Amino acid sequence: KMHLDQRDVEAVIDVARQAGELVRGMQEAGLRNIKSKSSAGDLVTEADVASERLIRAALAERYPHVGLWGEESNTMPDTEYFWLVDPIDGTSNYAFGLDYNAVNIALQHGTTTLLGVTWQIHTGRVYYGRAGEGAFRREASGVETRLQVNDVDELRRALITTGFPYHSGTSADNNGAEFVRVLALAGGLRCLGSAALDLAHVASGALCAFWEGWLNPWDVAPGALFVREAGGRVTDYAGEEWSINSKPLVSSNGRPGIHDALLEAIAEARKGIV
Ligand code: IPD
Ligand code: CA
Ligand code: CA
Repeated sequence: KMHLDQRDVEAVIDVARQAGELVRGMQEAGLRNIKSKSSAGDLVTEADVASERLIRAALAERYPHVGLWGEESNTMPDTEYFWLVDPIDGTSNYAFGLDYNAVNIALQHGTTTLLGVTWQIHTGRVYYGRAGEGAFRREASGVETRLQVNDVDELRRALITTGFPYHSGTSADNNGAEFVRVLALAGGLRCLGSAALDLAHVASGALCAFWEGWLNPWDVAPGALFVREAGGRVTDYAGEEWSINSKPLVSSNGRPGIHDALLEAIAEARKGIV
């Protein structure tokens, strides 16, 4: 069994920092060669690939028996423990120069997330957590805060974020109906472009909730851990506990007036589509 302590957290933070500094440097130098993947809006840059390569090499050196499942190489390892890696979450923002994106790394034991790190690229701020040990934000200055969800308990007072899938142009099941429904109920609704950071902000109390319908495990494994460690709730659209195999995700401060109300609004909206 793998024994984890704060030294492992610091080691993973250091790897995420190195990757974050690499991609920031590549952006400052000018990005070349931006390509599309599943749709014209689904981008991959040379920095995504370089970041994943750096993370893989650095983690393999320290943890040779732990496999890695990363977005860009996308082959699932057969090891008992494995890393989930999103080398840049918020690639569209990154490619356009909008500074809301992160390097995302989780350590998995099967479907259980043991450790998570979300390195916010342009700020040097990092969110991290270990199962059962709480989740924290560390500023570039070194100041640390334990993450704690907020206590807003009504949608009409809530600040909420969501995200749209890359198939939004080719299917009516694209979060449009859900968005319109929640728009009428929420205090404020945003779409910021990094699921990893959206979850970190739910955990810190800067947002009351985040939902999205088509997510990959590397987008959200660290953030789901942070939200739970910070006292919030993470489910699928049916209200079942979220796991890395769930595509839809609803995360919130856990208050029924937010979480249950959001589940209900999403279900209502989806009646018209499915
Ligand atoms: C995307 C971001 C975005 C979310 C998409 C994700 P990527 O990840 O997290 O906020 O709406 O569903 O795919 O492509 O930037 O790594
Ligand atoms: Ca992602
Ligand atoms: Ca990515």
